Amino acid sequence: MPALSRLPDVSVTVYAYECDAYGHLNESSFLQVFERARWDMLARGPGADLFRRNNVWPAVRKATVDYHLPAFPGDVLDVHTDLVKLGRTSMQLRQRALRSADGNLVAEADLVFVMIDASGNPTAVPEEIATQFGVRVSTRAGEVVRYDVGQVTLSVDVRGDGPALLLIHGFPLDRTLWKHQVATLAGWRRIAPDLRGLGGSDVPASGYTMAAYADDLVRLLDRLRVRKAVVAGLSMGGYIAFELLRRHPERVGGLILCDTKAGPDTEEGRRGRDAMAALAEAKGASAVAEQMLPRMLGRTSLKAQPPLVEQVRELMGRQPVAGIVGALQAMRDRADSKPLLEKIDVPTLIVVGQEDELTPPAEARAMASAIPSAHMTTISGAGHVSPLESPTAVSRVFAEFLEAVRPG
Ligand code: MLT
Repeated sequence: MPALSRLPDVSVTVYAYECDAYGHLNESSFLQVFERARWDMLARGPGADLFRRNNVWPAVRKATVDYHLPAFPGDVLDVHTDLVKLGRTSMQLRQRALRSADGNLVAEADLVFVMIDASGNPTAVPEEIATQFGVRVSTRAGEVVRYDVGQVTLSVDVRGDGPALLLIHGFPLDRTLWKHQVATLAGWRRIAPDLRGLGGSDVPASGYTMAAYADDLVRLLDRLRVRKAVVAGLSMGGYIAFELLRRHPERVGGLILCDTKAGPDTEEGRRGRDAMAALAEAKGASAVAEQMLPRMLGRTSLKAQPPLVEQVRELMGRQPVAGIVGALQAMRDRADSKPLLEKIDVPTLIVVGQEDELTPPAEARAMASAIPSAHMTTISGAGHVSPLESPTAVSRVFAEFLEAVRPG
């Protein structure tokens, strides 16, 4: 069972009285050390009265400890706690104690708690506790969870365990653009949100800017307790990745720029945004889909993959009009990211469909030559939505890059 979310880490010191006649931490004291770490964690976070103020008590139903190395008085142990499973009335936690001095794993505990009420009967895990211990994330393929990120609630597919990979979709699409990568990039925690206004996320009437999209995503990372992620953005998702680099560079550990470009809209392009917004308002999302479809897919896919053509048409046609109009305004008013390129100092992969007409390979090459140490790959037979048109090839180049940048 993969860990579903992370709780704050705490350090505890091993006391002499916890150690046995041979001078090392007694096995029964290990449970106390883990318990101390849990209370410290609560005291530093939501408060040690978290359970009492919710009128429940966490009764331990099961506790097992694996001992790996001895610990001695004065050793400082860094204890990491993961929420492994959140049931209706139960929580499963895993705690890992690493010796601070050398980072070696000393012991691991697996614990199951059942929430009980004043009469000792199992009761549902209160919302506040569930939220403090970590938000539940999808455990089944295709299960999507909604996360409140402040101004809006986003629908997000979170799959797998490992370092975080944030996948930002383009326009007028949603997280399903990345369905193949979410399904296949094992060893990474794949986080694929629907941006505000699109997919299953909230559709505010206004407030669509690159900054708002970027800030929503940072708050999502906060909710998922992710400090740093490799950020992959396709097209508009790339524009948002640039905004993340401008506003929150400390959250970006690596970059995948897929079928995107760095420059702003031209005057003609800006007029085109307004015309498309007017079309969306007058005739709905399906009219936008019809207009965009011939340039979303490459000529090879248009000819050889009729079911995919229909899927992309349907995907664009089901997006909310207010979200489409908002995204068009945000793209129209976006900043020029070209001056940013030479300052990008995280590992960067640039991926482009050879037949991409919206953000053609020439744009990708321009970015690749401006970003120090960027690597570029062209996907043959694919257009603008290469992750859907050539899923295997795109996942393979992503996987190779991710392996090379995996944090140690
Ligand atoms: C996208 O795919 O996100 C858009 O086509 C980008 C754009 O229109 O600039």
